[in-house]
Amino acid sequence: MLRLDKFLCEVNAGSRSQVKAYIKKGMVTVNGTVITKPETKIEEEKDEVIFQGSPCVYRKYVYYMLNKPRGVVSATQDNVNETVTGLLKQTGYHDLFPVGRLDKDTEGLLLMTNDGALAHSLLSPKKNVTKVYYVEIERPLTKEEILLLEQGVDIGEEKLTLPASVELLTEKSLYLTITEGKFHQVKRMLQAVSNKVTFLKRTAMGSLRLDESLQAGEYRELTAEELEDLRGLGDA
Ligand code: URA
Repeated sequence: MLRLDKFLCEVNAGSRSQVKAYIKKGMVTVNGTVITKPETKIEEEKDEVIFQGSPCVYRKYVYYMLNKPRGVVSATQDNVNETVTGLLKQTGYHDLFPVGRLDKDTEGLLLMTNDGALAHSLLSPKKNVTKVYYVEIERPLTKEEILLLEQGVDIGEEKLTLPASVELLTEKSLYLTITEGKFHQVKRMLQAVSNKVTFLKRTAMGSLRLDESLQAGEYRELTAEELEDLRGLGDA
């Protein structure tokens, strides 16, 4: 059960004070009856709420693809830095969080949602969800170093990194596909072969590919198909 004014805020009908005013003016019906008390409780997933002639559909969970810009931290709150959650303020959803983390200086694909179960499933080490990174490096890699990156390198963890795949693009740029998500993993992998990452951008996570039409800092909702594919991965 949810208060009618809160419900209308959550479906982005307006601010709390605006929606209260709309309700008091008789602009909102619930199951065909005009309701004028903002505090009226409704069943958000069952009752039919109509505002300005349009039904308001309540969605408990939402899913956004963000092209994270550099300089923004993958957190919901930070006293100093701008956060990825802050970038999605306009959505009206205040419970969004990033699925996994990208470093402050890393760009690219970040899934933002309020669906904890899906996030947990995608981040589970058991699921081996692939992450693709576009990486620029300080100096070219030798064949041996590429092989090492693909087979597993020592980044100071208990075990070597899991098998990865390297697709060279130029002498100093590549796509690296990994299935783990350790802290600074890509940077540490390149460090393990005496190299250095100079630019890092995530381009895919499982079946989800970064929409290249999104400029850094822009976001959009996942399509039904993208979400279905991602859910399939989580369930695998
Ligand atoms: N690996 C890194 O080193 N940094 C990231 O942000 C993501 C993966």
